[in-house]
Amino acid sequence: MKIVVTGGAGFIGSHLCEYLLEKGHEVICVDNYFTGSKENIKHLLSHKSFKEKEHDIINPLFFDESIDQIYNLACPASPIHYQVNKIRTIKACTVGMVNMLGIAKAKKARILQASTSEVYGDPKIHPQHEGYWGHVNMNGPRSCYDEGKRVAESLMMAYHWQNNIDTRIVRIFNTYGPRMAENDGRVVSNFIIQALKNEPLTIYGDGSQTRSFCYVSDLVEAMYRVMNLEKFYNPINLGNPHEFTVLELANKVKQLTKSESEIIFKPLPEDDPVKRKPDISLAKKMISWEPKISVDEGLKTTVEYFRKLLKN
Ligand SMILES: NC(=O)c1ccc[n+]([C@@H]2O[C@H](COP(=O)([O-])OP(=O)(O)OC[C@H]3O[C@@H](n4cnc5c(N)ncnc54)[C@H](O)[C@@H]3O)[C@@H](O)[C@H]2O)c1
Repeated sequence: MKIVVTGGAGFIGSHLCEYLLEKGHEVICVDNYFTGSKENIKHLLSHKSFKEKEHDIINPLFFDESIDQIYNLACPASPIHYQVNKIRTIKACTVGMVNMLGIAKAKKARILQASTSEVYGDPKIHPQHEGYWGHVNMNGPRSCYDEGKRVAESLMMAYHWQNNIDTRIVRIFNTYGPRMAENDGRVVSNFIIQALKNEPLTIYGDGSQTRSFCYVSDLVEAMYRVMNLEKFYNPINLGNPHEFTVLELANKVKQLTKSESEIIFKPLPEDDPVKRKPDISLAKKMISWEPKISVDEGLKTTVEYFRKLLKN
């Protein structure tokens, strides 16, 4: 198949491009290189089935060739990055989504939207299942992303109902692994980099807030399965339900890196969710999937990636 991956030069997108090429597909990676980088796809550029197109999905995009599937990942994903230009973040989620749905319509292509657990906001139920409508602050500092992603889901459903577009929605929970951006302030990369540099590990809040982390290869496999699932249009949670506290994560990273770093505590940012854990019963039922990579295994590979990166 000929497959477009927007945001293909980003953390998850670059792993997805790799996976699709391994499966024998042709891949067109569309990226504006805001948070992604050529470095992430450097090893794919010489692949005969890989093409790269520098483009911002906020602007209309045209393809001469036929397109079978579109994975829409183009959007800055970490709070530090999506808050740099909140208007552009909202536009990527809305105008960009409309542009990509337009291509899906014109090319009769199936389209998958990378939604997020942030659509649940600071959830009042735990774990979060797909039927929960969420608890989101629409005026807060994170709303450009949270509400943007909610509108993107609404757009997907509207185009599906009204124009019969073949849509898929995955709600991704915290994912980690090699090629996470070094400077994006996400907890896993933060801790690893701080530990490798023997700097203090910063915990925002008292560290009792829980998170669950999915290794990127598990996520990519699940995205592929959802895309290729027949006739299922409702959102599906993808993530690792294994939950631990941020303090436990900090200690795990310290142990793995054999770091001397101390752990320090800073105030919790506004609207930071206290609890987050996916209910993945639907994914288990629909795509027979659950994460395989343990946190220890995934962290080890990620630590090695950052160790090499910091040496260069
Ligand atoms: N990493 C996670 O834990 C996580 C969790 C939930 C959802 N997601 C979603 O998955 C997708 C990928 O996330 P990621 O972690 O790989 O982030 P990332 O920032 O590494 O990747 C996003 C990519 O999109 C590109 N991009 C951003 N705006 C664009 C635009 N307007 N036009 C074209 N390209 C644009 C960036 O340059 C980058 O390559 C995002 O949509 C994100 O919202 C990620």
